[in-house]
Amino acid sequence: MANKARFWDKVAQKYFKSPISDEAVYQRKLELTREYLTEDSDVLEFGCGTGGTALAHAPYAKSVLATDISGEMLAIAEQQKKDAGIENVEFRQADFDSFEDEKGRYDLVLGLSILHLLKDRREALKKVRHVLKPGGVFVSSTACLGNRMWFMAPILWAGRLFGAFPFVRVFTVGQLVRSIEEAGFVVEHEWLPPKSIAVFVIARKPE
Ligand SMILES: C[S@@+](CC[C@H](N)C(=O)[O-])C[C@H]1O[C@@H](n2cnc3c(N)ncnc32)[C@H](O)[C@@H]1O
Repeated sequence: MANKARFWDKVAQKYFKSPISDEAVYQRKLELTREYLTEDSDVLEFGCGTGGTALAHAPYAKSVLATDISGEMLAIAEQQKKDAGIENVEFRQADFDSFEDEKGRYDLVLGLSILHLLKDRREALKKVRHVLKPGGVFVSSTACLGNRMWFMAPILWAGRLFGAFPFVRVFTVGQLVRSIEEAGFVVEHEWLPPKSIAVFVIARKPE
């Protein structure tokens, strides 16, 4: 875990301080997600970073377990939680590649800016389906470099050797959506905001 977390530990403070790239788009994603939350919702977020989204959704849910591989990201998240006085969020250090939880434990799972950073998104999607209740919802936002930025693949690969980039998988929106459907979800909402390479997908595990 330490090796995989190194890049994210190093950039945690900078990540926290950098502004959200499009505030209106971010707010719309929060709103769309909230349509699926109730005061009884148990939520899991993986790759939660510095915890802003988990804390923003907490007042609309019963509980939020927000996980990340990076201890430095989570240290910032814990401080944010303390400052906001929020009690129904638990931050936990975990590599989603080896994360385990009860079958059908959650009403909603969030994976934001994370699926492209995992070695095997299909395994991750299987896991998301496993921990969701029947009828539960997976909300994701994923950078799909394969459509307009495929030329970044060798740059990312080389940059990674020097610690300048994390591990990144390159795939298209179509490939991502297909893998979500192949994992057994029904896509209810797909939105690629203008000028963005990150597709927002809301997908349901059938009853
Ligand atoms: C691009 S940031 C996104 C953070 C947050 N979800 C957001 O939207 O701002 C990616 C996050 O995923 C975490 N991460 C990377 N690989 C991971 C893994 N295998 N398991 C869990 N978290 C991981 C990183 O530590 C980092 O905090």
